[in-house]
Amino acid sequence: MIEELKNKLNLIETNYTSKIQACKNVKDLQDLQVAAIGRKGELTELLKSLKDLSLEEKKIFGPLSNALKIKLSSLFEAKNAELENAAINEELNKTDLDLTLPAFPFNKGGRHPLAIAQKRMTDILSKLGFIWAHGPFIEDEYHNFDALNIPAHHPARDMQDTFFIKNPHKSDFVLRTHTSGVQIRTMQKQKPPIRIMAPGRVFRKDSLDATHSPVFHQIEGLYVDKNVSLADLKRDLTVFMQGLFGKKAEVRFRPSFFPFTEPSVEVDVKCVFCEGKDKNCPVCKGSGWKEMMGAGIVHPNVLRNCQIDPEVYSGYAFGMGVERLAMFSLGIKDIRAFYENDIRILEQF
Ligand code: DAH
Repeated sequence: MIEELKNKLNLIETNYTSKIQACKNVKDLQDLQVAAIGRKGELTELLKSLKDLSLEEKKIFGPLSNALKIKLSSLFEAKNAELENAAINEELNKTDLDLTLPAFPFNKGGRHPLAIAQKRMTDILSKLGFIWAHGPFIEDEYHNFDALNIPAHHPARDMQDTFFIKNPHKSDFVLRTHTSGVQIRTMQKQKPPIRIMAPGRVFRKDSLDATHSPVFHQIEGLYVDKNVSLADLKRDLTVFMQGLFGKKAEVRFRPSFFPFTEPSVEVDVKCVFCEGKDKNCPVCKGSGWKEMMGAGIVHPNVLRNCQIDPEVYSGYAFGMGVERLAMFSLGIKDIRAFYENDIRILEQF
């Protein structure tokens, strides 16, 4: 009796092992599994004869049939995984899905370094009470030059620097060469107190090199009220520079000239790279200082041009290049890095 049962076990084993191996799809494999070890499967049925065996025989046949059940189960499981994988691969081969592409989360991109720099500056100016003002990129000569006390013979009005747009009916238009025209537009619309910042794009006939670009960005500032003095300018611009470069930043004001301010100053910051200690510093060229912006007390002619009485009101103004400050604070050596948009550079900020 026991020998016969052992033979049957062997038969089941060889039979199903080879059938499992030959099986080509999951459905057939499931049928095969039911036929072998399902509730009415061959092995299950055989196990039912266990009850007719003697205790000795049970001790032999029991473990044998159990071992076979475990073996078949794991064969089914392995084959099932193999068939499922094959099915998935077949599906994938039918589609264009490229599993070598980067997985989630996708690179979401980020702010452009110029936008980062501009936001840093406007955030500080907002805290100092400056509100946004806008002006057109295509400006008339009056707002870009005349009203700012820039006389007709001024070199900036030369064809070399400015992109002119011919206007056969009236005076020419220009692509604004600075954001200072926004001062005029604001003062024409609004009476003091005025406290505005005007960030934006400006245009000059410069060839592109490491430090020049025909299109760049500036931020203009204007504060007009009663009794505004150079002391207000020095305090606010020092706070601004320290906001940008840290509390310890040293600021220096140098006499300068702009047609629209009197007196005029140039605002320098102590080189944040060498702190004025390296005679060969490539950033400040060994001078220890870096020029950051132009500023000054608004020229009485400019106020008058906007129907503001210079005997009653005074103001200060400043203008700075966003690229220049961004290059200095982010350590970027070449202005072209901002416009070439090489991802490898942009993603560093
Ligand atoms: N408009 C000047 C420029 O483009 C910058 C400037 C200097 C603006 C002094 C000002 C100022 O408002 O007061 O170079």
